[in-house]
Amino acid sequence: MAALDQPAYIYDLDDIALRFHAMNNAFAGARHTIHYAMKANSNAAILRHLCALGAGVDTVSGGEIARALAAGVPADRIIFSGVAKTHQEIQRALTARIKQINVESPQELLRIADIARQLGMVANVAFRLNPNVNPKTHPYITTGFRDNKFGMDESFMPELSGILADSSKFLRLRGLTMHIGSLLFDLEVFREAIEKVIAVHDTFKAQGHALDRLDIGGGLGVDYDNADTAREFELIAEYGRMVIQATRGLDVELLTEPGRVLVARAGVLVGRVQYIKATAQKTFAILDTGMHHLIRPALYGATHRILPLIQGTGQQIMYDIVGPICESSDFLAKGVSLPQLKQGDCIAIADAGAYGFAMASQYNSHELPAEIMVAAGRVLVCE
Ligand SMILES: Cc1ncc(COP(=O)(O)O)c(C=O)c1O
Repeated sequence: MAALDQPAYIYDLDDIALRFHAMNNAFAGARHTIHYAMKANSNAAILRHLCALGAGVDTVSGGEIARALAAGVPADRIIFSGVAKTHQEIQRALTARIKQINVESPQELLRIADIARQLGMVANVAFRLNPNVNPKTHPYITTGFRDNKFGMDESFMPELSGILADSSKFLRLRGLTMHIGSLLFDLEVFREAIEKVIAVHDTFKAQGHALDRLDIGGGLGVDYDNADTAREFELIAEYGRMVIQATRGLDVELLTEPGRVLVARAGVLVGRVQYIKATAQKTFAILDTGMHHLIRPALYGATHRILPLIQGTGQQIMYDIVGPICESSDFLAKGVSLPQLKQGDCIAIADAGAYGFAMASQYNSHELPAEIMVAAGRVLVCE
């Protein structure tokens, strides 16, 4: 491979396949479809790869639906989530005949019914519930707690039932959905949320709606501080077992929407040291990549393992790894002990495959990083 002359994300497609298979195996025996949450990483090669393995996608905008279709994901494997779907986005989703729209409010359901009526179609919908559980994660990535804007609690159900009754020719309730947050490890919180959703599922069934799906969202975490692969695969298996047990007796297709757990580990962001700057307080390694390419540390105080791509064995030095952006929040790691670095050395920021490039910007008019795919040890596609 030619030497990198710009910051780049490098993704290992084989690692993604391993995790996809682990998730599928965890649900073996259940009717189950993985809808990869493509917000985590919407690179076309990754979408094609997961689609070829049998995945569908969970999308949250018209743009994501368009990207998925362009990558060859069949419309009947696309779910449309998101709290602020516009008239145009819903119209496109219905016209494309996607699998299901996950509804976030009564007003949204009215809008969908209206558009379906104009198009002379039946819209397949699922209601996103807010089960009011506390998933013990960073507050910015909690989505199933009562203070969040996402989903609907039980008080919304009579209004939703009324809209379904009024527009029964244009709406079909396929199921319920939830997504309680991201970077979750506590399976009991998932279980509690699923049980609450099943209670509402039963109520709608009793009203005569033939619900045939249950969408439990995504959110399973990866440990950014330690790379314990065995433990990670174990957690995926435990998650599958818990869900199968919690949903036993329900005659539904189970849908999951994993994002991070499929792609986070598969990606690294590689940047190059431009300068070493030692002050009385700190030693900075200043890279050509930073918060504009990987915003998680600045946004959530997230940590990523830092892997210097050098032979160095000597003295360890404590560095703050920072980027070129004119903000003091522009750091990738603080206080990490590394072998002595020098100008021109490359550094990999690990576990950057999820919410990395997808959240990258051109702030300060910097270029976006390159994206490089690797499979079976070979570089496949550079786009
Ligand atoms: C509706 C929905 N589903 C799935 C996901 C994927 O979450 P994760 O990447 O934590 O699995 C998200 C993430 O925000 C989401 O909003």
